[in-house]
Amino acid sequence: MPCILVAVILLMQNASAGPVYYKGWYHLFYQYNPDSAIWGNKIAWGHAASRDLVRWRHLPVAMSPDQWYDINGVWSGSATVLPDGRIVMLYTGSTNASVQVQCLAFPTDPSDPLLINWTKYENNPVMYPPPGVGEKDFRDPTTAWFDGSDDTWRLVIGSKDDRHAGMVMTYKTNDFINYELVPGLLHRVPGTGMWECIDLYPVGGKRGIDMTEVVAAASTNGGDDVLHVMKESSDDDRHDYYALGRYDAAKNTWTPLDADADVGIGLRYDWGKFYASKTFYDPAKKRRVLWGWVGETDSEHADVAKGWASLQVLDIFIVFFK
Ligand SMILES: *[C@@H]1O[C@H](CO)[C@@H](O)[C@H](O)[C@H]1NC(C)=O
Ligand SMILES: *[C@@H]1O[C@H](CO)[C@@H](O)[C@H](O)[C@H]1NC(C)=O
Repeated sequence: MPCILVAVILLMQNASAGPVYYKGWYHLFYQYNPDSAIWGNKIAWGHAASRDLVRWRHLPVAMSPDQWYDINGVWSGSATVLPDGRIVMLYTGSTNASVQVQCLAFPTDPSDPLLINWTKYENNPVMYPPPGVGEKDFRDPTTAWFDGSDDTWRLVIGSKDDRHAGMVMTYKTNDFINYELVPGLLHRVPGTGMWECIDLYPVGGKRGIDMTEVVAAASTNGGDDVLHVMKESSDDDRHDYYALGRYDAAKNTWTPLDADADVGIGLRYDWGKFYASKTFYDPAKKRRVLWGWVGETDSEHADVAKGWASLQVLDIFIVFFK
């Protein structure tokens, strides 16, 4: 009996105008302990694929903690599909010294629609915690989007500062190997602690809901009525908080519409047991889909007895764009 621990979801996500799903398949990667239905230091990437988001096929473990830079866990990350169809996977590794670093992986055989085998980049890791950021406070890189203003790909990573404010940092890259920290913080909210699994995506407006398309439209015509959702998973209380705001790529800022209902202190996606959610843009149906991890309320003892732990829920189709 396989034991599954689904803790944080990882999705094939699209940052380009190309397909979000790969060669007709949606892929879900999730935090998985092959040995037991408990969290542990040997977290790997479980893998399932589906053609319709309803019926799923379980596939072999995609990545295991077998390198010094991820020996304490292959943690969350995100895929970016480049305009030429290649997939770049960024994930957080917990090193042999339990430092959180960002690592790169690629499909071993790009012609395999099921993406069974993955190859880790030979010069991992590609990002270390920057100065002032704790070694254990640097995780869950997002899908990248293309910013035409300086022709770089951008992605964000959540953290907290030394005064317990949750915060989001932006990185830019040309090649996904060398990364530059964009000066300043995209956002910061005092008192909210570590922000995990950041999500940032456009809603409303007439330009679609794919990040790259919206950023391109904004840089050429000043944008329209698009708003951006910023979501974080608060490690302090294990809830998913979001707010609506305006993203300014050139200034590297995101400003909430209502500062009293800012990220981490205002709205929640769900008021039950629901955490570490993430959205992805589905270009086949031009929609954004939200996934979440439901940790259930079972005890660890009960999880071990039943042989699995946690559920993965496909929640809402947040936005339709035509
Ligand atoms: C982690 O692994 C690296 C690469 O093998 C090695 O240089 C380093 O000493 C190791 N650190 C610890 C704490 O084991
Ligand atoms: C994945 O790798 C294994 C081990 O090298 C190999 O036997 C298998 O054929 C590969 N699967 C695919 C679909 O490429």
